[in-house]
Amino acid sequence: MTGYVVAIDQGTTSTRAVVVDHDGQIVSSGQLEHEQILPRAGWVEHDPMEIWGNTREVIGTALSRASLTRHDIAAVGITNQRETTVVWDRATGRPVHNAIVWQDTRTQRICDELARDGGHDRFKDVVGLPLAPYFAGTKLKWLLDNVDGVRDRAEAGELLFGTVDTWLLWNLTGGPDGGVHVTDVTNASRTLFMDLRTCRWDEEILDVFGVPRSMLPEIRSSSEPYGVVHGSQLLRETPVSGILGDQHAATFGQVGFEPGAAKNTYGTGNFLMVNTGEEVVRSEHGLLSTVCYQLEGQPPVYALEGSIAVTGSLVQWLRDQLGIITTAPEVEKLAEQVEDNGGVYFVPAFSGLFAPYWRGDARGAIVGLTRYANRSHLARAALEATAFQSREVLDAVNADAEVELTELRVDGGMVANDALMQFQADILGIPVVRPAIIETTALGAAYAAGLAVGFWEDLAELSQKWREDRRWEPAMEAGERDRQLRLWRKAVTRTFDWVD
Ligand code: G3P
Repeated sequence: MTGYVVAIDQGTTSTRAVVVDHDGQIVSSGQLEHEQILPRAGWVEHDPMEIWGNTREVIGTALSRASLTRHDIAAVGITNQRETTVVWDRATGRPVHNAIVWQDTRTQRICDELARDGGHDRFKDVVGLPLAPYFAGTKLKWLLDNVDGVRDRAEAGELLFGTVDTWLLWNLTGGPDGGVHVTDVTNASRTLFMDLRTCRWDEEILDVFGVPRSMLPEIRSSSEPYGVVHGSQLLRETPVSGILGDQHAATFGQVGFEPGAAKNTYGTGNFLMVNTGEEVVRSEHGLLSTVCYQLEGQPPVYALEGSIAVTGSLVQWLRDQLGIITTAPEVEKLAEQVEDNGGVYFVPAFSGLFAPYWRGDARGAIVGLTRYANRSHLARAALEATAFQSREVLDAVNADAEVELTELRVDGGMVANDALMQFQADILGIPVVRPAIIETTALGAAYAAGLAVGFWEDLAELSQKWREDRRWEPAMEAGERDRQLRLWRKAVTRTFDWVD
């Protein structure tokens, strides 16, 4: 058996390639950030060609750092920022527009118009999602309706649609004529177009959105051979055999295979996912129903998800837009210079508010300011916002589920911040548990790819690889926790109704 699997983790701010060995250890990686294109307030775009170029480069970096060649690699897995939408020319491979990123709010009006007939939950029974700018379908409709020539060319069969997984797979497996045009169930479940039960595109919804069928990728499981890397590339002939949206991959990497297993990933945003087994559970409290993963030839496993748009990206905002820190890790030191938040609460509703509120009319607010407040308080309030938002999502999970969560597994970049994790346990009132490998997103994609080619045998083998690194017990007095939560919730209400 060849010795390693490569996972491509194409995230909102950067692209990574990670080499994973048979023990599930990360042996090397490469990473590049890409430009965040912000043409107007509320709009966020990426250049798909830059993302593809970076992907090729980081694969090369990861391989050369471990002195490996394609002969050492058994399979490639892809995991990706979800919902971000690309449309490209099937003949030339050129995108017709920048990718519209999941955080982009330009399609609020499209959502409101579609909601006139049946409300914002009109498709929820079928697709598990409310009508919100977050999801890919609204972005595709915007491109069809607003970019010159796109609808005509799409109707003539010249254009292809994909989320970032599909874009990368098509390029990885493609020669001059392009490659395999496929997505997996988890990514398809974020479009607003897939019937959660059948895992097929829903014809009626496609008609409502006016989407030509020829643009759509084929929906496949999350773990099966989709094709091999094209001969012109570094990993030529290597099977690409795993695709999972990044939050689904993190759940898979946390070996959350059983109903009730949950994880919270701290990335650009935070995403709490709970495995609900082979049953689609409908939320009454603002969570999304989604596909957790599907193995080849097996029924899909579903999940409930609490999506929070802005957590880690708030730290980036403090760095890039406000300039009060020069590197992201500095935020921790700055926040530690003060004992508490000084009464300051920061609600980062930059893309409206996602779970559990789904308020497209919300915009960010910093409240509780006095002359006493300084940049340390602001840094602290920014970090605390991550914990408060996660608490609200956990409350929704507990309200929807029959059994309350008794601890929370965490992963992602921000969980290296010990003070934040203690505060998170304090605000949740349950222990927070960090695994030895916090890059569970890449790990999950590697697992899915490796399973499909027999590199790993089954889920039981993968489950044995999970190791606890550290656990934080809640230490805050209940009265103090309640007081802070009350102020947080009051701060949230100040962000509502802010868009004309
Ligand atoms: O739904 C958006 C999510 O997939 C983005 O994840 O890791 O880029 O913050 P991330």
